[in-house]
Amino acid sequence: MVNAEGFYVTTSEDQRARDLRDDLRDDLRDVGGPVSAQGITVDRGTMLALDDVWLDLDPGTFTALTGPSGAGKSTLIWVLAGALAPTSGTVTFAGQPVTDRARAAADGIGIIAQGNALATPMTGLENIVVPLLAHGIRPAEARLRAESALEQVGLGDSTNHLVEEFSGGQQQRVAIARALALRPKVLLADEPTSDLDAGTRETIVALLAAQADAGAIVLMATHDQWCADQADAEWHLDEGHLSRAR
Ligand SMILES: Nc1ncnc2c1ncn2[C@@H]1O[C@H](COP(=O)(O)OP(=O)(O)OP(=O)(O)O)[C@@H](O)[C@H]1O
Ligand SMILES: [Mg+2]
Repeated sequence: MVNAEGFYVTTSEDQRARDLRDDLRDDLRDVGGPVSAQGITVDRGTMLALDDVWLDLDPGTFTALTGPSGAGKSTLIWVLAGALAPTSGTVTFAGQPVTDRARAAADGIGIIAQGNALATPMTGLENIVVPLLAHGIRPAEARLRAESALEQVGLGDSTNHLVEEFSGGQQQRVAIARALALRPKVLLADEPTSDLDAGTRETIVALLAAQADAGAIVLMATHDQWCADQADAEWHLDEGHLSRAR
């Protein structure tokens, strides 16, 4: 079958993928403005984890954050997410100060944490459904979104496995699906491909790029230069100092 746009549509799965993409575009139509870090310093006592960091991230852009272990990548992500108060400086999203994690989450700032942070007594599906319910999504819609997100990361066949029954890389994909299902306006992904094989890594990076294409602000911390090369821009952190790599 050929649709109105002239695309050949072969299966209902293709249609479902199109519907998902359209829903995402609707949800991300009005991100509202950039995420902006203005003079962020985080003093860890013996050292500065971040030293006067300035960064603007615009809607519709996919940005990589690189740098050696201990450079401050996770620290910057937590500050941008409103989860860690900087020693000095401010973060804004669409002109509003970001100071509180719960408020930031309600405003659409999502995070994929380094190390996954899944709830182990629950299944993969439940890990995704619970935050959706907390965001006021109705149960039937939450279940559909969770199933779709698991399909997107290649885990559509194992929705009811307990977290401990997933491998490390599969757990990482559940955590990615959990963040994607919330359709965040801002997606802060902290080394989201560190446990993945090359093929799965490509799928996940393409999913992150698609969020930005739909209008989201996407920031991905990574040690993987191939992943960084797929982003629109790359910023580099070294001992708390941020500079533009490309
Ligand atoms: N809770 C904490 N208390 C004190 N120092 C911390 C804390 N968390 C991180 N640090 C320090 O802040 C610096 C930056 O750490 P951060 O986790 O941001 O680095 P990173 O770039 O994400 O590293 P990796 O690539 O290993 O994840 C490190 O020197 C680390 O030891
Ligand atoms: Mg880190």
